[in-house]
Amino acid sequence: MNRTPSGLRSHSQKPAGTLVPGLVALLASLAAAQAQDRVKPYAVVREAIPLSLTGKPGDPARGRAIVANRQVGLCLLCHSASIIPEEQFQGDLAPDLAGAGSRWKIGELRLRIVDAGRFNANTIMPAYYKTGGLTRVGSSFAGKPILSAEQIEDVVAYLATLREVKK
Ligand code: HEC
Repeated sequence: MNRTPSGLRSHSQKPAGTLVPGLVALLASLAAAQAQDRVKPYAVVREAIPLSLTGKPGDPARGRAIVANRQVGLCLLCHSASIIPEEQFQGDLAPDLAGAGSRWKIGELRLRIVDAGRFNANTIMPAYYKTGGLTRVGSSFAGKPILSAEQIEDVVAYLATLREVKK
């Protein structure tokens, strides 16, 4: 699936594990161009966002494509994902996403993607649906989340399907 948006500069792929702060900034600058919608309010209840950001369930197949995509989600810069074997150069800075849907409830997955800092204030994982309090985002992207609400829901729907840990 080719979802590369217009306006993105091409960039060389580097193995994850190098240049993390630069990668995070790159991630933010590449991906922030994507989400055109502003962050809408959401309620955090006990370390989770129980309700869909869009009011609808996401699409797991679209979510998988976002997770695998090097210009949209960039999840694989940091995470390995043994369930996406076709993508080379997966990261080793973060847990394998396999089994994430067994480890976390769907509302916890949603909060994790929206604002991972709510779980770990020092995390290197970007807050994908947040506009305040970001320190590594280019100022021209202030005010826009990295992923849209629809994209967040698609990613969450995909992660929720990752029930078993494969080794
Ligand atoms: C810059 C590195 C980085 C990127 C990019 C990143 N993450 Fe993470 N992620 C982490 C780290 C590190 C952790 C471990 C816990 C922590 O530090 O918050 C984590 C934790 C998680 C967890 C919980 C892991 C578990 O099962 O215990 C999930 C789920 C997750 N990330 C999903 C994603 C998804 C989906 C994306 C892309 C939309 C993504 N991450 C992008 C670094 C990253």
